Amino acid sequence: MAREFSTVGVVGMGTMGSGIAEVFARSGLDVIAVEVDEESLERGRGHLEHSTDRAVARGKLDADGKDALLGRIRFATDLADLAGCDLVVEAVPERLELKARVFAELHRICRPEVILASNTSSLSVTELSVQTGRPGKVVGMHFFNPAAVMRLVEIVRTVVTEPDVAEDVTALAEKLGKSPVVIGDRAGFIANALLFGYLNHAVAMYEASYASREDLDAAMRLGCGYPMGPLALLDLIGLDTAYEILITMYRQSRDRLHAPAPLLKQMITAGLLGRKSGRGFYTYAEPDSHEVVDDAATPAVADTPAEVRQVRRVGVVGTGTMAGGIVEVFAKAGHDVVVRGRSADRTAEVATRVARSLDKAVLKGKLAEADRDAALARVTTTTSFDDLADCDLVVEAVAERLALKRTVFETLDEVCKPGAILATTTSSLPVVECAAATSRPGDVVGLHFFNPAPLMKLVEVVHTIATAPEVVATARAVCENLGKHPVHCADRAGFIVNALLFPYLNDAIRMLEAHYASADDIDNAMKVGCGLPMGPFELLDVVGLDVSLAIQRTLFEEFREAGYAPAPLLEHLVTAGRLGRKTGKGFRDYT
Ligand SMILES: NC(=O)c1ccc[n+]([C@@H]2O[C@H](COP(=O)([O-])OP(=O)(O)OC[C@H]3O[C@@H](n4cnc5c(N)ncnc54)[C@H](O)[C@@H]3O)[C@@H](O)[C@H]2O)c1
Repeated sequence: MAREFSTVGVVGMGTMGSGIAEVFARSGLDVIAVEVDEESLERGRGHLEHSTDRAVARGKLDADGKDALLGRIRFATDLADLAGCDLVVEAVPERLELKARVFAELHRICRPEVILASNTSSLSVTELSVQTGRPGKVVGMHFFNPAAVMRLVEIVRTVVTEPDVAEDVTALAEKLGKSPVVIGDRAGFIANALLFGYLNHAVAMYEASYASREDLDAAMRLGCGYPMGPLALLDLIGLDTAYEILITMYRQSRDRLHAPAPLLKQMITAGLLGRKSGRGFYTYAEPDSHEVVDDAATPAVADTPAEVRQVRRVGVVGTGTMAGGIVEVFAKAGHDVVVRGRSADRTAEVATRVARSLDKAVLKGKLAEADRDAALARVTTTTSFDDLADCDLVVEAVAERLALKRTVFETLDEVCKPGAILATTTSSLPVVECAAATSRPGDVVGLHFFNPAPLMKLVEVVHTIATAPEVVATARAVCENLGKHPVHCADRAGFIVNALLFPYLNDAIRMLEAHYASADDIDNAMKVGCGLPMGPFELLDVVGLDVSLAIQRTLFEEFREAGYAPAPLLEHLVTAGRLGRKTGKGFRDYT
């Protein structure tokens, strides 16, 4: 018979513990919350008040419900008060010796049949279990931040956890309205193991001044649809907690990519722990506030150089998907656009595609008919590069082959007027290769649009070591005028988005290869636990496994990080012609 849980203990009322206490109390359980001292308890109460007030403000809870919820939580500063609990969840800081001590004490205090759970994000649950005289009754119960909102709970079963213990805790998580996934004991479990390499990489990029904090975060929100950027998320998680998670992962994986970026340690030492201390990568109105306030690193409007070149007439080279989208975006924003293709048939085809897309926008009520007609009237087509001579900006969007792009840039260099900006929309080749094919590398910049260009707001503006500052400033201004959100970075493989995204996807494939979890569980964990719009395998099948492999190879070849080497399973699927949705089979079969 399944256990009944009526009173639950929560140890530690910090970021996570207070959320966990709220979740239990909301579903009618009595909670005993334990902290180290009165002051910390007071802070925990503050977290609860704040979170339940927000639930009331959002109409998710009424005032009576809030009082009842808080009324079910009793506060204490002595673990001995947990003697009557049916289950205890530990949520003290991520330090093994501290948690080990708490578990040893809980074992002494609680009845022998009581389940002891840890909310650890990365430490070995097995190691905690052996601190008690009841290792079979110890599990991980890993909630996600904010616990009251996020539905994923990773239930970690060690090799000695009794099967009915894992089952009963899983059933409880379901009763709490959560979406549990049961997995083995490995550093980082599913979600953090995949998330933290990515977060650490973002810190390393920031530390190297590769891109600003705002641009790094905007790139992942707008380029991948993530609910938060990596640095804002680290501030929410807490830098100290993130550091401990990375260290534990590194100890187990010995993967250099998990070794915490040195900046994290420095920030922690300086007391910059994220939201909880009022300052982390960003500065907040006060400790525990989510309101970001300006600080010395906030970009000032005056930082934009005044000198910006005029861009009216725009050339687009290429007739593919990206070229068509880019033509539409520029024409809609009022630019005269000349599309250059290899044949009249191809250019006519692009013009038709643009017209069809604009028609759709009219049908959806997003564009007036007169604006559609005006936009179409601005587009002309040609098969001759000479017609790009008087363009202020030319965007190259031909196939992703370096030799081809270099030839285009050599020709543009010959025909375009002095001062014209020459841009490439490459997603993986070095922009500087295009620049080096011209006699005017200062005028060459990367403008990496995302597919579909008319919808995706992000554009990565990529400068090479030679790009002139006013060319970058002009590129940014042009993007803003298009209604896009430009982010700025240097010329390294993958720029921001692909460099952060693909190693994570590759890690997910390795996790699948290692039989740690199924594709469904991994996809589910990332969607439900981290709020990502798609799980890694869904996304890989949409992007195409051949495209993903090519990007991963480019990253590996540029950085030579062992962890970036494409997962063998990815290579095998591509070899077998399983390329994802486009071939009907990838990680999953499609009908
Ligand atoms: N922050 C996250 O996003 C997140 C997400 C999931 C899991 N976790 C895990 O949850 C656990 C707690 O992390 P957090 O972010 O809530 O940390 P936190 O620093 O916000 O809170 C920890 C709390 O534990 C209290 N504490 C310390 N020693 C104690 C003791 N002996 N007895 C009772 N209370 C004690 C502290 O006073 C503090 O209030 C860690 O294992 C962490 O890895 C964190």
